[in-house]
Amino acid sequence: MAESMNGLHRSHRCAELDASNIGTEVCLMGWVQKRRNLGSLIFVDLRDRSGLMQLVFDENVIGKEGFEKAGTLRSEFVIAITGKVSKRTAAVNENLKTGEIEVFAESLRVLSESETPPFPIEENIQTKDELRLKYRYLDLRRPDLQQKLFMRSRVVSSIRQFLINEGFIEVETPILQKSTPEGARDYLVPSRIHPGSFYALPQSPQLFKQLLMCSGFDRYFQIAKCFRDEDLRADRQPEFTQVDMELSFVDVGDVIDVNERLLAHVFKETLGVEVPLPIPRMTWQEAMDRFGSDKPDLRFGMELTDVSEVVKDCGFSVFTTALENGGSVRGLNVKGQGEMSRKKIDKLVEEAKGCGAKGLAYVAIQNDGSIKSSFAKFFSDEEMDALVKAMKGEAGDLLLFAADRNKIVWEVLGTLRCSLAKQLDLIPENEFKFLWVVDFPVFEWSDEQNRYLAMHHPFTMPRDEDVSIINTDKKGEAKAKAYDIVLNGCELGGGSVRIHQNDVQETMFEALGFTKEEAYDRFGFLLNAFKYGVPPHAGLAFGLDRMIMLMVGADSIRDVIAFPKVKDASCLMTEAPTPVDNKQLEELEIAVLSNHM
Ligand code: AMO
Ligand code: AMP
Repeated sequence: MAESMNGLHRSHRCAELDASNIGTEVCLMGWVQKRRNLGSLIFVDLRDRSGLMQLVFDENVIGKEGFEKAGTLRSEFVIAITGKVSKRTAAVNENLKTGEIEVFAESLRVLSESETPPFPIEENIQTKDELRLKYRYLDLRRPDLQQKLFMRSRVVSSIRQFLINEGFIEVETPILQKSTPEGARDYLVPSRIHPGSFYALPQSPQLFKQLLMCSGFDRYFQIAKCFRDEDLRADRQPEFTQVDMELSFVDVGDVIDVNERLLAHVFKETLGVEVPLPIPRMTWQEAMDRFGSDKPDLRFGMELTDVSEVVKDCGFSVFTTALENGGSVRGLNVKGQGEMSRKKIDKLVEEAKGCGAKGLAYVAIQNDGSIKSSFAKFFSDEEMDALVKAMKGEAGDLLLFAADRNKIVWEVLGTLRCSLAKQLDLIPENEFKFLWVVDFPVFEWSDEQNRYLAMHHPFTMPRDEDVSIINTDKKGEAKAKAYDIVLNGCELGGGSVRIHQNDVQETMFEALGFTKEEAYDRFGFLLNAFKYGVPPHAGLAFGLDRMIMLMVGADSIRDVIAFPKVKDASCLMTEAPTPVDNKQLEELEIAVLSNHM
């Protein structure tokens, strides 16, 4: 029978008590972690969000009825006790914050009972993910998950405090928006009042924050929920949170300055970690050339080497054809792995193919200096020597080569670099390596759509010297005033200076293949706003979930989101998404193709 709390007031949380409270009368409430009967004494570990407290039930203290009731307690019952804090009679538990003390219960109420939970509520339990997510409310009782959400709350609070001190105004922007897809797929919401018309959930508050700059708010921020219908990965959820901001009368350096101070403030305040400022900056081109990635992990070396010049006259057609087609040949020197087994090398080749490569060529320098290579027969000894030298290859090194279009070569070697570092344990733990990647290309070519897309978004300002080429056949070379903040190989956030001149914006839309009508149809409200005096402005958004994931050392952003979705974008607990009543659909004048009903 569940009892009420009437007349009881909790005095402390469990782990707020320590030896200095010995002798204090307390009232504690929480969940039963476990019960042990030791003849005339019953021990119960009581859990709340602060931690554990050992309760002792002694018939001489609590009386017969209370003692019997204590004997019925089971895991996850919710109880309230009053009693006195005492020094532990038995051995002190040094692993526990409250290990020196216990509370001798004087009264006990069972506030609610519990069925046997589908898995024990303990740290580091081996339970299937599906089960844990189905019962997420129970999984969230585990201290390690709770700690992550506490950290999230502290980080958000620290961010707010910093930005408000810096003169930022927090403004909420609409969740029901106009659909302006140009990036990920939108989540659509049907309108009942306007049948056949749809709102879109925001992929980001981008256009509204630019409008707030037009309105003169000068510095805006928002902890904003964003929605993107894209394929999920460990660092992607369909709904996620951005720390979003926009500033007026600023250029790249100003945005970088305030944001690196923000990061340093938050890391110091919440983790006690010093972030040395300024955070290094690297151009996109340098990041790609050295690391094959626009979000390089700087915690280890193994940089790429361009050997195109060295192999351009060789007899290996895989290399020369790639060069003739405007591509490159680049290599990775995997130190000390020259005697890697053939099987393992084959696995690397498979991984390379998974990134779009046609193959992966290798030179394995044995410990005795002899060479095993997939293309030695096409190379003279001198050519091989020159290649090994260019790669700084030594006895015992494994050299891997990719030859293709730059985009593929970077993807292949950038991916192998990271996965080899993981396999070979080259990544130091507890290190935070921040990097700004700047001067991104304005456009990126899409093979799928056979056209140029905006690499960041269509409102991104080209560098001053590149404005004149954005609508010419040199547009592929144009670089933008766009920047990403990268932490340990993960894109933490990104932003750009925005175009604030209507003529440049119109040229940009043209370059992206929009007619003027199409541009006005989609973005007319922004283009019109720009006619009435718009300040130069720029901004950035951090992925809050990713930031917390890296701060707490989680493997997935799922661990730092209270109620996350799984890979197919469903929620295992509520079973969303679900079909809806026909009546609801009729109101919306929506029909569902029957094979999905
Ligand atoms: P962008 O699209 O780069 O920029 O997004 C900013 C940051 O949001 C995070 N992020 C995600 N996190 C979890 N799940 C996702 N599906 C997901 N998608 C993005 C990333 C990313 O760096 N409006 C611009 C910002 C600006 O220009 O001011 C924008 O949304 O950490
Ligand atoms: P092949 O001539 O196709 O037998 O390839 C010879 C070697 O070159 C094999 O080790 C292939 O994996 C490798 N290879 C093939 N295509 C590429 C490529 N585009 N880049 C690097 N290596 C390649």
